[in-house]
Amino acid sequence: MTAYEFVVVANRLPVDRTVGDDGSEAWRTSPGGLVAALEPVMRAVDGAWVGWPGQPDVELEPFTEHGIRLVPITLSAQEVEEFYEGFANDTIWPLYHDVIAPPQYHREWWDAYVTVNRRFAEAAASAVKENGTVWVHDYQLQLVPEMVRSLRPDVTVGYFHHIPFPMHGLYAQLPWRDQVLRGLLGADVVGFQRPQDATYFLAAVRRRLKYDVKQATVAVPTPDGHRRVIAKAFPISIDTSPYLELIAKPEVQVRAAEIRHSLGNPKKILLGVDRLDYTKGIRHRIKAYGELLAEGRLNVEDVTFIQVASPSRERVDAYVHLRDEIELAVGRINGNTDTVGHSAIRYLHQAFPREEMVALYLAADVMLVTALRDGMNLVAKEYIATRADNRGALVLSEFTGAADELRQAVLVNPHDIEFLKDAIMTAVEMPPTEQSRRMRALRRRVLEHDVSAWSSSFLEALASSRSTRS
Ligand code: G6P
Repeated sequence: MTAYEFVVVANRLPVDRTVGDDGSEAWRTSPGGLVAALEPVMRAVDGAWVGWPGQPDVELEPFTEHGIRLVPITLSAQEVEEFYEGFANDTIWPLYHDVIAPPQYHREWWDAYVTVNRRFAEAAASAVKENGTVWVHDYQLQLVPEMVRSLRPDVTVGYFHHIPFPMHGLYAQLPWRDQVLRGLLGADVVGFQRPQDATYFLAAVRRRLKYDVKQATVAVPTPDGHRRVIAKAFPISIDTSPYLELIAKPEVQVRAAEIRHSLGNPKKILLGVDRLDYTKGIRHRIKAYGELLAEGRLNVEDVTFIQVASPSRERVDAYVHLRDEIELAVGRINGNTDTVGHSAIRYLHQAFPREEMVALYLAADVMLVTALRDGMNLVAKEYIATRADNRGALVLSEFTGAADELRQAVLVNPHDIEFLKDAIMTAVEMPPTEQSRRMRALRRRVLEHDVSAWSSSFLEALASSRSTRS
């Protein structure tokens, strides 16, 4: 097998395999922020991407798609259930998002997690050149750094954690808490979204493993002394260029006008864009909006709220229940408040191509990001990137990584429904001069600190860890 200087390992390949009704095979961009962030980085280097094609029992040879060399990992149907839906998305995901949903702890799921992590680690270890670099991503693969290190001690290993890392009081619930910390510490640099995540991780390392921690550096004992591991924040961002290109296209602007027209030309369009996930605070935002309508502070003739909720993890119970709850809430509000010509909420349980998303961003006067906990939230950054006219207002939860950077948003605690209602009203009623003052500052931040600034800062830290190692 050809070996590569730079190997990315992530649970998903950047493309998902889909099979049509006629059995035809197609590839489409995978969901989530991770792929959106990493794809442009990969295009710029001679590297390979190790990941799962998104369906069980698919056995494929390495291939090239969109100019990226892809190394597919096969997961059996049982592994999808126990590793992906189980341990990754019903144990780690809820635990790391502050137990918004109760995490399930099952020993068979852990066993599947170990087995699958080993498969990814072996594929990465055989794809990387001597003295090359392996960059592991996200909570599905926390054991991979240590596994790659033991298979290939010559290689530099980075790990980036895209979701929050919980405080020790919660992390300590995890029956395999020490093994996971050791897995992560196989990396030379462990990157997090927020300084707070790095602090919680370092506290867990100190308390559980009793390793020496000085500022951002952990001394990991080895047979012949210590190895230094750096753990710190590298807040992720977006590739702004496709957004800037799309907003300049006349057909996208026409589409944005069409969207407004098709909604009956409301004075204000509110927008939410999320994977349908309980961490995103979609219920809280719908509740607040429904109360504003019921109290007459908003009028259905004047406003429309578009909620795009893309399907996600549909076989995990917590997601099935969430969908029912949201669809019930949307149905109730619309039933109570719609007129024949105007709808309070347009709920779209679909994923849309980027072009349509940009038209929605352009049409939206107010963007609602009310996550209860979110590693970063790239939707907030995408919205800002599209607002070249410096119009529009962003309501942003304090519990997102993005809130650390986007201080000029209307920041909100989504658990406090009265506060959330006032924040929505502030955004709806914000005078154009105030929108522009805030949006200018927000855009400066997002355009300067884009995904390439993020990846360069991480990869520079990784390269300097290598120079101190050798
Ligand atoms: C988040 C995670 C990613 C994940 C994505 C989509 O952004 O950080 O690791 O890939 O959600 O979730 P899915 O379960 O569909 O891969």
